[in-house]
Amino acid sequence: MDILLGLQWGDEGKGKVVDVLAPQYDVVARFQGGPNAGHTLEFDGIKHVLHQIPSGIFRENILNIIGNGVVLDPVILKKEIEGLHKFNIAFKKNLFVSKKATIIIPTHKLLDAAYEKSKGDKKIGSTLKGIGPTYQDKIGRVALRVGDILAEDFQEKYEALVEKHKTILSFYEFDLAQLPELEQAFFEAVEFFRTLNLVDSEYEVNDHLNAGRKVLAEGAQGSLLDIDFGSYPFVTSSNTMAAGACTGLGVAPSKIGEVYGIFKAYCTRVGSGPFPTELFDNTGEAMRKEGNEFGSTTGRPRRCGWIDLPALKYSIMINGVTQLFMMKADVLNIFEKINICTHYELPDGSRVDRLTYELNTDNVKPVYKTVPGWHTSLSEVASYEQFPKELKDYVKLLEDELEVPIKMVSVGPDRKQTIMR
Ligand code: GDP
Ligand code: IMO
Ligand code: MG
Repeated sequence: MDILLGLQWGDEGKGKVVDVLAPQYDVVARFQGGPNAGHTLEFDGIKHVLHQIPSGIFRENILNIIGNGVVLDPVILKKEIEGLHKFNIAFKKNLFVSKKATIIIPTHKLLDAAYEKSKGDKKIGSTLKGIGPTYQDKIGRVALRVGDILAEDFQEKYEALVEKHKTILSFYEFDLAQLPELEQAFFEAVEFFRTLNLVDSEYEVNDHLNAGRKVLAEGAQGSLLDIDFGSYPFVTSSNTMAAGACTGLGVAPSKIGEVYGIFKAYCTRVGSGPFPTELFDNTGEAMRKEGNEFGSTTGRPRRCGWIDLPALKYSIMINGVTQLFMMKADVLNIFEKINICTHYELPDGSRVDRLTYELNTDNVKPVYKTVPGWHTSLSEVASYEQFPKELKDYVKLLEDELEVPIKMVSVGPDRKQTIMR
């Protein structure tokens, strides 16, 4: 099994790359996260954004599995599937959902909102999809799982969990007026959910692997949002790293092959939390505009900044990345000069290139190496040989620093705008 992961704060372009790589695989599987993800694919002039369905779904002969590590919102899943009706996708044949995946219920979303509100200006900037509260219940051993919807006592289990949530929500004086409407949509979606292929996905995945079929695990979010290694507490509530693919699918570490690490040629972040290379000036604004950096799930403007090598080195280390893919190189076309953060400077003047526990944006200053930009369009570029010299130099410099080969450079959102090396 190979794994594809984002190495920054999400939105690196995972959806596009999974779609590009999918023909080399038999199965694409999501292993963590949920509808907080927004994975964009573009081909034939159409743009699709997937939240919970794996990004292999548009390829006719590829099976797509939603693994046990995922938290799943039935309402959003139903909408996603209905939204794809006109593309004649064979969901019955190609989509499988783990019975051990955890279900997001309406009160999880209300709790997400209540917790965020109570944090005031310390809020995480959550997507408010109920991710944190649902994983909390999973770890607290009270959550509902997909398999539960097939049991006769599902309604009772649901009511018991909602009662717990209501107690917490009343502590936060949270208005429950929207709950009946949310519950109606939820139960309609649960009915629909029962018609899907609900499986023991750990057997499915391992059976495929044992039969010699190729599986690609599709990460959501990015390593710097990992619950253990990200910029805690400004993180998501799952292990977004390679190890998460083992626990989120039931695959042994010994079965992991390639780990594809994908990163933008610069850096973005949505929501709160440290971001050492963030740009607050016109350069940042230009990056946002050129890169169309607005959240695929929430539409929020993404914070933008220069590439951060210490952060990338950290992500490469914790994931065991074997190949790098650089995305959105074309967005840097507009700059005459490009900055690369090679170190952080601490208040005592010393320089480090490690993400230590103490590190946060208030006490570090990025140290930049400035290189000339290519300052030209990449729209006609069809092979690596045709890259402008400055872009080749940029790729080479990153490779030397990161010590992992950059095997793919993406120069536009379309499937076709992908240059392999
Ligand atoms: P994901 O969450 O990692 O799948 O990434 P998102 O879909 O949230 O965000 C990536 C955005 O960049 C999407 O709008 C993609 O269509 C777009 N994109 C992907 N690769 C490229 C690229 O090489 N160049 C440009 N300009 N846009 C890209
Ligand atoms: P993809 O898969 C970018 C961010 C949120 C917030 C923090 C916690 O598209 O790359 P959560 O809803 O998980 O409680 O939010 O994590 N976040 C993402 N940022 N891309 C994502 O997914 C994200 N999923 C969550 O903005 O800061
Ligand atoms: Mg995204």
